[in-house]
Amino acid sequence: MKRIAVLTSGGDAPGMNAAIRAIVRTGLDRGWDVFGVRDGYAGLISGDISMLGARDVGGIIQRGGTMLGSARCREFERENGRRKAIFQLQQQEIEGLIVIGGNGSQTGAYELSRMGFPVIGVASTIDNDLYGSDITIGVNTAMDVALEAIDRLKVTASSHHRAFVLEVMGRNCGYLALMAGIAGGAEAIVIPERKTDLELLAADLRAAYDKGKAHAIIVVAEGAQNKSEEIVQYFNVHRERLGFELRVTKLGHVQRGGTPGSSDRILGTLLGAGATEQMSKKNYAVLIGLRKGEIAVTPLDEVVARKKELDMRLLELARVLAK
Ligand code: F6P
Repeated sequence: MKRIAVLTSGGDAPGMNAAIRAIVRTGLDRGWDVFGVRDGYAGLISGDISMLGARDVGGIIQRGGTMLGSARCREFERENGRRKAIFQLQQQEIEGLIVIGGNGSQTGAYELSRMGFPVIGVASTIDNDLYGSDITIGVNTAMDVALEAIDRLKVTASSHHRAFVLEVMGRNCGYLALMAGIAGGAEAIVIPERKTDLELLAADLRAAYDKGKAHAIIVVAEGAQNKSEEIVQYFNVHRERLGFELRVTKLGHVQRGGTPGSSDRILGTLLGAGATEQMSKKNYAVLIGLRKGEIAVTPLDEVVARKKELDMRLLELARVLAK
């Protein structure tokens, strides 16, 4: 008999529930006991751990967020916090832990594995900034939320001949902004990976105005070097030159709260099942992700040490398409 536990950590992401469900049910299918940890690493430290049955994860696949709760836990960043967590796992005779989360969470998973505890990570964050997975759980649903915002803003922008700055999440990664911008036909996209020349951006918008475009959408990633406030300030000073009147919308956490779409439900399911498979092979200290359409298993030390690169050719393409 094997006893494993699962937790979700960091920012919640639509599709996390599908991963929990898959881990619980594939674990039970292997004859294991599966435990759920409440509120991420915080619940691990406090010992908020309980057994989950197949019915406990019924009716969750279509729900956003995480049924286990999540947290950003400072205490776990310290070795003493991690020792407490290992103590709680040992108290319950749990032999392996699955961590569903993004960069910070997988760094925690790596640290735990370095202290000798068997851990497997599942790639989940709306930021899509995790090395080892082309796409992470939650990205596509969050992107669809951003896309719907762009589509709606275009409607009202066109009625008023306005430009809109739309700020989207993504921490220090421009993936969400870039892909939502391309899918939404944005006039300009501002991402952390490249410094934007505001003078050029203003010229592009003026050109769009002169061409008779009824609106302009500028998608700005929250982590961009040019913050949306700075862009707005600059454009307000150059208001006459720009042509368009300007408004700002910050999407914020709205992006995280979506109902998981089919691709995030399937991704969560496949990565969750992949995690228990690796657990059965005793292949620990790895991240389960998706690469080139296949389940990929990447050592956690590589995941924490390496940076996922954004394909910058897509930014050039977006600029061409906005003409
Ligand atoms: O990592 C996911 C994310 O939503 C980022 O895009 C964002 O910067 C951050 O989390 C917000 O964190 P919190 O929910 O703690 O405010």
